[in-house]
Amino acid sequence: MQTRLKQVIYVSEKTDAPSNILTDIYDISQKNNSESGISGCLLIGSSSYLQLLEGPESAVENLYSKIKVDSRHKKVKKVFEQHIEEKLFSTWSMKFATFNNVEWGNKDFDAGNFQNINSANAMKVFQTIKEIINR
Ligand SMILES: Cc1cc2nc3c(=O)[nH]c(=O)nc-3n(C[C@H](O)[C@H](O)[C@H](O)COP(=O)(O)O)c2cc1C
Repeated sequence: MQTRLKQVIYVSEKTDAPSNILTDIYDISQKNNSESGISGCLLIGSSSYLQLLEGPESAVENLYSKIKVDSRHKKVKKVFEQHIEEKLFSTWSMKFATFNNVEWGNKDFDAGNFQNINSANAMKVFQTIKEIINR
């Protein structure tokens, strides 16, 4: 039986952490995610992270449970989850999206704060990111 694919989006609040944490997270995510068949995108806002994880269900759940207790961020909150047929970011082990010039049409999001995002808007954000990187 084929493994089911799952997508999870969560939001979290940044903590005051040394600037090299993103390099560390980048390195570990490229290594681990390619090994476990996970892909996705991490949007780095000014005060929040918004991350989409996708891949085999058990791998995604394992990773999410590690990320949830990582002290390099706080208030980790699942915004959305669904089973999928196809990945959105299949070619990216983890795309780091740092752009701060996207107008999302919402003053919190435009300021890089995604903490109160709902599931529909979260999915829209990642679809927009995908369009931007495919341009
Ligand atoms: C915002 C954020 C995003 C993260 N994204 C990933 C990721 O995509 N893949 C990953 O393996 N670890 C990610 N991590 C790190 C995990 O929390 C954890 O430290 C790491 O997976 C542990 O790997 P290990 O079990 O090989 O030691 C992330 C951490 C933070 C704070």
